[in-house]
Amino acid sequence: MNAMATPLDVAALRGQFPILSTEVNGHPLVYLDSAATTQKPNVVIDAISDYYRFDNANVHRAAHMLADRATTAFEGARKKVARFIGSDDEKQLIWTRGTTEAINLVAYSWGNRLQPGDQILVSTLEHHSNIVPWQLVAERVGANVIPISVSDEGEIDLDAFRSQLNGPVRMVAVGHVSNALGTVNPVEDIVRLAHDAGAVVLLDGAQAMAHQTIDVHKLGCDFYAFSGHKMYGPTGIGALWGRTDLLVDMSPWQGGGEMIDQVSFGGTTYQQIPYRFEAGTPDIAGAVGLGAAVDYLNSLDRDEIAAHEDAVLSYAVERGEDFEGLTRYGCAHQVSGAFSFLMEGLPSADVGMLLDQQGVAVRTGHHCTQPLMNRLGISGTIRASFALYNTFEEVDRLFTALEKVRTMLS
Ligand code: ALA
Repeated sequence: MNAMATPLDVAALRGQFPILSTEVNGHPLVYLDSAATTQKPNVVIDAISDYYRFDNANVHRAAHMLADRATTAFEGARKKVARFIGSDDEKQLIWTRGTTEAINLVAYSWGNRLQPGDQILVSTLEHHSNIVPWQLVAERVGANVIPISVSDEGEIDLDAFRSQLNGPVRMVAVGHVSNALGTVNPVEDIVRLAHDAGAVVLLDGAQAMAHQTIDVHKLGCDFYAFSGHKMYGPTGIGALWGRTDLLVDMSPWQGGGEMIDQVSFGGTTYQQIPYRFEAGTPDIAGAVGLGAAVDYLNSLDRDEIAAHEDAVLSYAVERGEDFEGLTRYGCAHQVSGAFSFLMEGLPSADVGMLLDQQGVAVRTGHHCTQPLMNRLGISGTIRASFALYNTFEEVDRLFTALEKVRTMLS
């Protein structure tokens, strides 16, 4: 495998991301931390700055031209993002600060209907943001959060899951793609099994959106949560997509302006979806920026991008196999975006710091997945994660830098 293995013009793509031509610690940046947050293309940066320069006003409230332009941009972005995930009804798309807030919204608002003894299944692969919100609601209502086991390879144990569905399971909440290991979960099977058992399914799509085309109807899920900043959009904006019949039945979770119909001390009535769940002034510029990220992704050949990302990841895995002292974690049948590993005898935090000194940015630690790390019998990993702008040469730079780290620490 080599740098010419995919037809994508990666150099041209990289030129659209200004940060990628900067230096860090005196070295050209090798950014291998896109699972934490992707870098942003000029079109996203410009959309945000143009919004503030030319259109800034509050939405849905005022009688003036700027407010009209801001509202049109904000609602236009909602429509774009809804279409991007296969929804033809933008009312199903609720703006949130990101995946975490989207899951908290469901846990709080949909979770109100849970009864003592009800079960919420979450996989052992989950990010803390798909565990802790369920623990909070479980504590409140007397429900139980039960982990679905995973194999040593980092795959959900579907047989165990099937038998767990014999219990009073009301919610199954799983990640589409694992942030720590890159495992692509068989979510369509999970949805089908959960629905057969009468449970509702929430998918955490944070790590999937940048890497594959999402169609919520094909997936068949009931809720899909994701973040803008992991798909080339800005931080502070994300969304929850939900089935209309579920959303209209859910009570508000935060009160304030925008989410009400009529307010009086005798009692308050609420707006229709999606506004019922969007109290206060939203992140308007964030929504506009996320709309621009969607336009950007729509302008690319997504299959070509996915093939390129997979090839770069496979190349990293291949190089890792020949690299003395390196153990890879997460060897599922289908993996996307992340290469997680440890170096024998070398503390991960030190490895991360010494890589950074050579311009190579990775994440080290538990990746907000402590139950998974406990399951694997480790405290964390070193994670290199990839996006459309990464190259084979950058993988080589990672391994050259790792060689140096090994010499320095041995
Ligand atoms: N959830 C992000 C990650 O995996 C922050 O790094």
